Amino acid sequence: MTLEGRRILLIVGGGIAAYKSLELVRLIAKSGGHAVPVLTAGGREFITPLTLGALAQEEVHEALFDLSAEAEMGHIELSRSADLVVVAPATADLMAKAANGHADDLASTLLMATDKPVLMAPAMNVRMWLHPATQRNRARLAADGVAFVGPGEGEMACGEFGPGRMAEPPEILAAIEAALGGARPGSGPLAGRHVIVTSGPTHEPIDPVRYIANRSSGRQGSAIAAALVRRGARVTFVTGPAVAPRPAGCTIVEVETAAEMLAAVEAALPADAAVFAAAVADWRVASAGNSKIKKTGSAPALTLTENPDILATIARRETGRPRLVVGFAAETDDLLAHARAKRLRKGCDWLVANDVGSGTGVMGGTENKVTLITAEGEESWPRLDKTEVAERLADRIAEALA
Ligand code: CTP
Repeated sequence: MTLEGRRILLIVGGGIAAYKSLELVRLIAKSGGHAVPVLTAGGREFITPLTLGALAQEEVHEALFDLSAEAEMGHIELSRSADLVVVAPATADLMAKAANGHADDLASTLLMATDKPVLMAPAMNVRMWLHPATQRNRARLAADGVAFVGPGEGEMACGEFGPGRMAEPPEILAAIEAALGGARPGSGPLAGRHVIVTSGPTHEPIDPVRYIANRSSGRQGSAIAAALVRRGARVTFVTGPAVAPRPAGCTIVEVETAAEMLAAVEAALPADAAVFAAAVADWRVASAGNSKIKKTGSAPALTLTENPDILATIARRETGRPRLVVGFAAETDDLLAHARAKRLRKGCDWLVANDVGSGTGVMGGTENKVTLITAEGEESWPRLDKTEVAERLADRIAEALA
């Protein structure tokens, strides 16, 4: 039972494939999980709340403006009470709403309000799937961190042939398991290991309303944490204010500043390994005040002071140093020379060097081109999706800790 104890918020949209979602509810239950069903107005045209609710053994949520439902569990709480949000079938309309941030019914509002990973199983007519608007929305959603399963190709209910068929329920179940960290807790090559991952930017306040930040999305860090969880590791994920969805199955510690990030990492020790993927702000404002700086006609001078180097602090610990310390190096020129020097300067075991020069699209993007630098040598990986970089790195970490 791989979904033991997991809650899945299942949004059923208005497509003929909605009937397959009934089977999905059964499969989730068989796998030990629990589906909390949400039915859109369109979905209600295809299946009844009674069937869905009876199979899920749970009340079906349908309305956004329902006082008694809100009194029991508000939509914000509903959107966050699950470990994963699944949209099946994800219609062209639901995808368009989610891609554009609409919130005009319960389903779209839940998708806007959630802080959990989202998995979509699209289902629609082939022309609608191939329409540039749908493809634009799919790409936008993927860039926002939404995972997809399907659609498959085949004969469709409308009589046409091509891509657009919703993935079969067992395939969606496998995607759910993968999104939730696949491996059963306590199994996999990293079972019993604790890994700390830092991720995202930090925000350094200038005054109560302004801050210094950087373009990090947190995607690479989230992907690394998810890949480690899939290999059975217990992961503490220390993240700055990142846009990427938080990885499932980790202990998540949200911080703002570099100082808070260092304190959170130290509090999470001991660990077998630590991966420092965060783009920590190098400086903070020396005297960030409690009141908003007012315009006076001349620009204020900000005095900056250096932040603690979290990676170097942990890598140079005399006691309680994780066995494997992995840093990242974001460089815009002389990538390898700077990265080699950085590995030695910071005292880490491995350094993942990435070129973040303008035009590479790495900072904030979905792909990465890295070189892994260790004491033994260097390995250049091809340009890969950040999730693939994460898989490879997690495999290497598992080998190193074996
Ligand atoms: N790092 C950190 N704490 C800091 C600065 C950086 O933990 N205050 C970590 C990052 O998470 C990353 C590595 O150090 O793993 C290198 O970050 P990078 O920004 O490339 O290096 P800097 O130390 O900032 O060096 P420089 O800006 O001079 O290139």
